[in-house]
Amino acid sequence: MIHTLKIGRPPACTRSFLSPRFSLALPYNSRFSKQFHNSANGAASSAPEPFGVLKALQSSNDTVPAPTIFSREFSLVDRVALVSGGIGGIGLEASLAMVEAGVRAVYCVDLPDSPSAEWTAVRAYATRMQSIGGEGRLEYVSANVRDQDQMWKVAKTVGDHCLSYPAQTFQEVLETNVNGVLFTAQAAGQQMRRFERGGSIVLMASIAGHNAFKDHALVQYHTSKAAILQMARSLACELAPEGIRVNSVSPGFVNTRFPKPFLDAKPELAQIWENMNPMRRLAQPHELRGVLVWLASDASSFCTGSECVILLSTPLARI
Ligand SMILES: NC(=O)c1ccc[n+]([C@@H]2O[C@H](COP(=O)([O-])OP(=O)(O)OC[C@H]3O[C@@H](n4cnc5c(N)ncnc54)[C@H](O)[C@@H]3O)[C@@H](O)[C@H]2O)c1
Repeated sequence: MIHTLKIGRPPACTRSFLSPRFSLALPYNSRFSKQFHNSANGAASSAPEPFGVLKALQSSNDTVPAPTIFSREFSLVDRVALVSGGIGGIGLEASLAMVEAGVRAVYCVDLPDSPSAEWTAVRAYATRMQSIGGEGRLEYVSANVRDQDQMWKVAKTVGDHCLSYPAQTFQEVLETNVNGVLFTAQAAGQQMRRFERGGSIVLMASIAGHNAFKDHALVQYHTSKAAILQMARSLACELAPEGIRVNSVSPGFVNTRFPKPFLDAKPELAQIWENMNPMRRLAQPHELRGVLVWLASDASSFCTGSECVILLSTPLARI
């Protein structure tokens, strides 16, 4: 999950990401909060510079055009991001993409006491970007998103038959995939409300929330991801008046650690999954960078309550 909180300079200051520990963003928020204390609903108090067609119409013939699409709409400069599940897979890919888009700090929340070697190497790479003008850095926060108290303080799926699916495991999946997502969104949203600069929350759903896959004993996962779609709509309605946008992303199968146990147990699944989409392949984590930065940035400013389905699955894959 990714949350973006607007914190910085006018007119477009946002921090992005999904993550549990938003209080860690406080030094930046404190720095900018007074500057924008008059702003309401995420809008800056000063009139924003024109861009797009308005800027073109207002420019004189002797003005050198200055494109803004990447420097402004897609820019995440002066924002802070929170990413849960941030030490690997889609979360780590999203974290680096946020830094490249200008985020000042990405707080990566995950379970281990210390981050993975992969995360540490990516952090070093992000730090080296500072030599070419980048400002961003990755910070690691050890936390369990199921722990609401912990999340608030810090800003397994198994295959089985649905009729015999163990209650405890079902509960564990929902606690992580549903409760954990809500607690993380709450942690980020509370911080966004506090600083009255709005923000963007991106909930990670799945095509498994839209479709029920035949021949897959996934009642727990299907249920949890369908809940995320509705959670995003509900949060979007409640938080829109505060300038906080909430959207969901539904990838198809992505080549991360996540599907590996299934593929190890049933290698034939790889071809079944590949055949579920027109391109006949699994996605790579980096192929989600664009949509995640787009949703975190002002480039998607009219987008809330939306479901971004990243991979079409064919009717054969669903009931
Ligand atoms: N990989 C896919 O095919 C795919 C497809 C659709 C949706 N998704 C969704 O994308 C998200 C990321 O998946 P991924 O493929 O990057 O998997 P991944 O296993 O590579 O990463 C998930 C991360 O979440 C962390 N995590 C798990 N429980 C946690 C908890 N309670 N508190 C904090 N961190 C916790 C794990 O340690 C891990 O680092 C998940 O919500 C998944 O359901 C994945």
